[in-house]
Formats: sequence, structure tokens, C-alpha cells
Amino acid sequence: MMRIDIINGPNLNLLGIREPEVYGVKTFEEYFSSLKVLFSEIDLHYFQSNLEGEIINRLHEIGFSSDGIILNAAGYTHTSVAIADAVAAIRTPVIELHISNVFAREEFRHQSLMASKCVGLIGGLGLKGYELAIQYFIDSNKNS
Ligand code: DQA
Repeated sequence: MMRIDIINGPNLNLLGIREPEVYGVKTFEEYFSSLKVLFSEIDLHYFQSNLEGEIINRLHEIGFSSDGIILNAAGYTHTSVAIADAVAAIRTPVIELHISNVFAREEFRHQSLMASKCVGLIGGLGLKGYELAIQYFIDSNKNS
């Protein structure tokens, strides 16, 4: 069975409550349940942390065995050399994901320290982006 991991960074535990006009009204737990139904053939895992080191530990833990990682490093995207280094250090391909369109927002969100270490980048498509990223990993697994 193919394994795909979602890692969400700081404040994404407040999805559904936090700035709903930017991030929507659904909690990630609700959305994750629907993802598990949609992709029942995939061994899907979800991890969220507000702590930089925990995100790095998780990348190390799964980064040599998982078939694909979807990383929404949230605010750390724009600041964390250490998470970017972890993405570069592991073997599993990583897709960087943002729920909002970071390029339509403040200038400090236009920079990503990890995008260059990722296979690709999805942003601005809401939670739908996670489905598209999973589908990408499934399709590229079939073709390899
Ligand atoms: C985010 C965008 C980041 O700039 C922000 O700090 C977040 C969420 C997104 O999913 O749109 O916390 O990664």
C-alpha cells in the first residue's frame, strides 16, 4: 500500500476557527476524514505541530519510508532554514502546500525557504490543494 503523509505547521490546528475568510470554516480533522474516504487505497497519515523541532523530527522519522509528503510549514515556510535543511536531507519527495495564495498577501509571505527543495508547490486552492497533491503522488507512483 502506498503511504502518503501530510504535515501541517503552526496555527493550522486552528483551521475552521482561525481567520475563516482566509482559511475557510472546515477543521482539518473533518477534511482529513473525507480525504481518507476519497483515497481509501492509500495509507494516509496526518501530523500537526506548532513546534519547529517536532516538524523536523517528523520529517526525519517518515522521510525515508513514506512515498510522498505534503508539507504546509505555515509561518515557518518563510523563516525556517532548519526545516528547509530537513526537506533537503530526506529521500521522500515533498510538495509544499499553502491553503491561501501567499503571493496575493503580504510581501513577507512571498519568500519560501523550502520551495527549491520540493518537487513542486501548490497554493491558493484552499483545502482542495491537498487532494491535488495526493493525486500527483499517486499518478507519479504509477508511472515509475
Ligand atoms: C499558510 C500561509 C502562510 O503564510 C501562513 O503563515 C500560514 C498558512 C497557508 O496555508 O496559506 O500559517 O501556509
